[in-house]
Amino acid sequence: MLSRILALTWKIPKWSFELVSWGKSFKNNPIIGSYWLNVFGLHVFRVIVAHILFRVRLFLLSPIVPSEYRGEFIKNGYILRENFLNEDQFFRLAEELDQFEGPVREIIEGTTVTQRIFMDYEERRKAPEFKKLAENQLLDRLMRFCSSKNRPPLFYIENLCNHEDVNRRPDPQRDLHADTFHPCVKAWLYIDETSDNNGAYIYVPGSHKLSWKRLKWEYKESLEACKKGSKRSPGRYWDGSFRVAGKDLSEMGYQIKKLSVPANTLVIGNVYGFHCRGEALQKSKRMTVWMQARDNPFNPLFTPFPKITARVFEGIWKKALKRLDQGKINSGEQRNFYGRLSRPKQKKIVEKA
Ligand SMILES: [Fe+2]
Repeated sequence: MLSRILALTWKIPKWSFELVSWGKSFKNNPIIGSYWLNVFGLHVFRVIVAHILFRVRLFLLSPIVPSEYRGEFIKNGYILRENFLNEDQFFRLAEELDQFEGPVREIIEGTTVTQRIFMDYEERRKAPEFKKLAENQLLDRLMRFCSSKNRPPLFYIENLCNHEDVNRRPDPQRDLHADTFHPCVKAWLYIDETSDNNGAYIYVPGSHKLSWKRLKWEYKESLEACKKGSKRSPGRYWDGSFRVAGKDLSEMGYQIKKLSVPANTLVIGNVYGFHCRGEALQKSKRMTVWMQARDNPFNPLFTPFPKITARVFEGIWKKALKRLDQGKINSGEQRNFYGRLSRPKQKKIVEKA
């Protein structure tokens, strides 16, 4: 009994903090996952407040990026630019990433293996072309704006290995979903072209915006996500990344777009908008520079010191990753090793013209 009280003494402040920050799990947080609080609109309230604050921060940061980029991001929910780097710089970067050795985390998601190297400040020093990309002024400004937090993102090299079949369950990232309840961004500079063979990124343009129909859907999903025990259907997700069915998508008036893009294309997406990995028809690889920026959506402020804040976040995230590693390795979801990413043999990533 005493240990239960002590556990609650620690957990109640933790759950309360999650409620006013990025916490999204209906399963692990009984306040977020409370059926009655959600009947009275807790989830929908969080969605609306997070979106209002996001738009205010975007407005205040609007001078840092050209209007064409802002308009595209606000209208569609993503920015897409082909030939982002000049040809020589891209070629050098692709060569460097193909040969780069670092601490690889392999995440097993059904039939897909996602290999990632977290490119923090120290790793970037070993990769001059990557460092140059991370310091690219346009990319820096776009990421600081789109995140609405004025902070450069966390950088990774990501190598998606399709049809590895380590685990014969379907890959959950192939289902259309919103990452969380609030706007936040992920970005990809594609080192390989994307197609049906290696699974192009799928996005639903406009689905990052709030509408009456979307809010009704959020409300319905929040009540569903509160189900406990045997009422939870095994095929669903309880972490707060709501999956959307094709029928609901059409009722909300959305159309899917497949972003099959050439190498050297930059995509920055608001992952509150519905998205997924497209199906890959073949056993294949797809490498990207992957960037992520997620922050407390209820903090109305953004940092006035982008570089220092980014460095602090990198340090915190590096420690958090190490802490998370062991549990995932034990459960068989992750494997770690030091070395190169698995790339197609004898194949140049791009042919220089
Ligand atoms: Fe996602």
